[in-house]
Amino acid sequence: MNFSRVLVTGGAGFIGSNFIYYTLKHFTDVFILNLDLLTYAGSLENLKDIPAEARYQFVQADICDQQTVTELIRAYNIDAVVHFAAESHVDRSILGPAAFMNTNILGTFSLLEAARAVWLAEKKLKPEQVRFHHISTDEVFGSLEPGAPAFSETTPYSPNSPYAASKASSDHLVRAYHHTYNLPVTLTNCSNNYGPYQFPEKLIPLMVLNALEGKALPIYGDGMQVRDWLYVEDHCEAIWKVLQEGKVGESYNVGGNNQPPNIEIVDAICALMDEFLPDSEFRPHQKLKKFVTDRPGHDRRYAMNTSKIERELGWKPRHDVEKGLRKTVQWYLENKAWINSIRAQKQYEEWMVKNYTKRGEK
Ligand code: NAD
Ligand code: DAU
Repeated sequence: MNFSRVLVTGGAGFIGSNFIYYTLKHFTDVFILNLDLLTYAGSLENLKDIPAEARYQFVQADICDQQTVTELIRAYNIDAVVHFAAESHVDRSILGPAAFMNTNILGTFSLLEAARAVWLAEKKLKPEQVRFHHISTDEVFGSLEPGAPAFSETTPYSPNSPYAASKASSDHLVRAYHHTYNLPVTLTNCSNNYGPYQFPEKLIPLMVLNALEGKALPIYGDGMQVRDWLYVEDHCEAIWKVLQEGKVGESYNVGGNNQPPNIEIVDAICALMDEFLPDSEFRPHQKLKKFVTDRPGHDRRYAMNTSKIERELGWKPRHDVEKGLRKTVQWYLENKAWINSIRAQKQYEEWMVKNYTKRGEK
């Protein structure tokens, strides 16, 4: 399938902005309409290197506003929705779950209804010409015991945090719209992304920014939790593979096949900071590490079995964590203006106080 008029939701966030750069670079006949509410996590700063051109347009709107979304899909003759928009931070979902239920569940419902109205009821385009692609997470599968096999597409859902439960709900809605209405959908469940433009409330950019300023590097619990780290550009490539060659109604797991415990990620970041900043007064950055009270209900281990997308679509991650981390740390160090724009944000400072200042040492 070749889609040419793509509605990206959440395109001012981390993965969405990377997806837009990737698409404009690699698919020269694709037009993108980027719909984003610009919450604390979304920023036009993430998109400022997009050349002014006819193939890209931004609209500030809420995915829960079904009327606006319906009108946009109709007016722009959209043939594919790539749905990233979400509340995405697990710690925030623990301290304030309501926004997650609203955006992740009701927002997805609103988008599905809009797509159903324009594509299936009004029959603006034929079902074989359109696609609703939903971006989900490995967190819907719960937590793995040590040595247990990696999550596959048939692993039963067992979400543990309010964030994961809201994403699981949205996945179920997407599947139901395919089963009941024949809405042409595909899903990807992916592991922890990292790379440029990630909001520094997430582990990797948080550690880089704190280390830069000589602040403590807060490691939850014993730091032995395991994530499956995926470089964001590899994820973008996987999404396009699924859009073009994936089977309608199917889900595909996407992961980086890199599963070091958190503490190794933090150690690697400290070593890179030492190397890139030989004159820093905070060297060795290792001494900034601080073990703090664990996240409630913290999932111990995630790992993705990616054999389906490898076998059926020929996708494989191109970055191992060593190469990806080096590129990532370098990007943050070279993009001071971006870092300063985030630091200037009042909500960022408020979050740091709320999540970290009252957190005890382990
Ligand atoms: P992010 O938090 O960086 O960005 C989310 C974007 O959505 C922001 O630009 C925000 O303004 C926008 N948004 C939020 N609520 C909205 C609303 N009601 N209407 C319109 N826009 C809204 O998130 P991310 O890390 O880029 O994640 C993107 C998607 O990928 C999410 O669905 C997330 O669940 C999923 N995912 C992320 C990861 C990861 O490691 N970051 C891994 C697996 C899955
Ligand atoms: O697995 C995919 C998920 O990855 C996505 O669905 C989420 O949207 C995304 O936020 C991410 O969730 P995590 O909770 O795994 O990511 P986070 O960066 O918040 O944390 C990564 C690991 O690091 C986790 O084990 C918690 C730990 N951590 C995190 C922070 C912010 C710390 O030890 N200290 C910290 O300060």
